[in-house]
Amino acid sequence: MIKIIQGDITTLAVDAIVNAANQVMLGGGGVDGAIHRAAGRELYEACLKVPEVRPGIRCPTGEARITPGFKLPAKFVIHTVGPVYREITAPCGGSRPMGKRTRRAERVPRQHGEPEKLAACYRNSLVLAAENGCKSIAFPCISTGIYGYPIEDAAKIAVREVEEFLAAKNAKDAEEMEVVFCCFSTHDVAVYERLLK
Ligand code: APR
Repeated sequence: MIKIIQGDITTLAVDAIVNAANQVMLGGGGVDGAIHRAAGRELYEACLKVPEVRPGIRCPTGEARITPGFKLPAKFVIHTVGPVYREITAPCGGSRPMGKRTRRAERVPRQHGEPEKLAACYRNSLVLAAENGCKSIAFPCISTGIYGYPIEDAAKIAVREVEEFLAAKNAKDAEEMEVVFCCFSTHDVAVYERLLK
C-alpha cells in the first residue's frame, strides 16, 4: 500500500526510513543531517564501519546500504545516494522582431543516466528493506533538494519504481507492505497526489 504524508521523516515509527545520503555516507545537510542528528552518534559510527568500495566511497550512486536506526523511532536507516541533476543550457529557437535569433536557454538534462540512477535508489532500497524483513518503509524525495532533481520528474520515477515493486509481489504481501512518500513540503505532496490519484 502506498501513502503520501507531509512531515519530518525522522519522526516516523516505520521499519525503515530512507536517507538521501552522499557517497561518503558520513552525514551531510538536508534530510541526511536531520537523520544523523536524530539517530545520534552511533549512526555515524555504524556508517564508518560500512566498507569503502573505492577510496572515500561507501555507497556509490544508485546503491543502498542499511544500518540500525539507533535513537530514531525507525528500526533501520537505508542509506541511498541519488544522482546530482546536471543540466546544460542549450541555445535554441525563437527570434526577435528584427529577425535576429535569440539564445533562449533551455533545460536540457545531460545524459549521465540520472533517471536510471534515481530509479535504482528506490529499487535497491525496497529490495534491501524486504531482505531485512521490513513491512514499512518511508522515502524522502531523493535528489530533489541539494542535488537539484526537479520534483515532478523525480516523483514520476519514484512512483513507477514503487508500483512495479509492489506489483511483483503477491496481493497479500503487497497489501501488507506499506510504502510512505514522506514529503517535506505541501508542494511535493501535491506532486505525488497528482501522480497517485
Ligand atoms: N524529513 C523529510 N524530508 C526532508 C527532511 C526531513 N527531515 N529534510 C529535508 N527533506 C527533504 C528536502 O526538502 C528534499 O525534498 O528531503 C528531500 C531531499 O533533499 P536533500 O536532503 O537535500 O537530499 P538530496 O537532494 O538527495 O541531496 C543529497 O545533500 O544532505 C546532503 O549529504 C547529503 O550530499 C547529500 C545531498
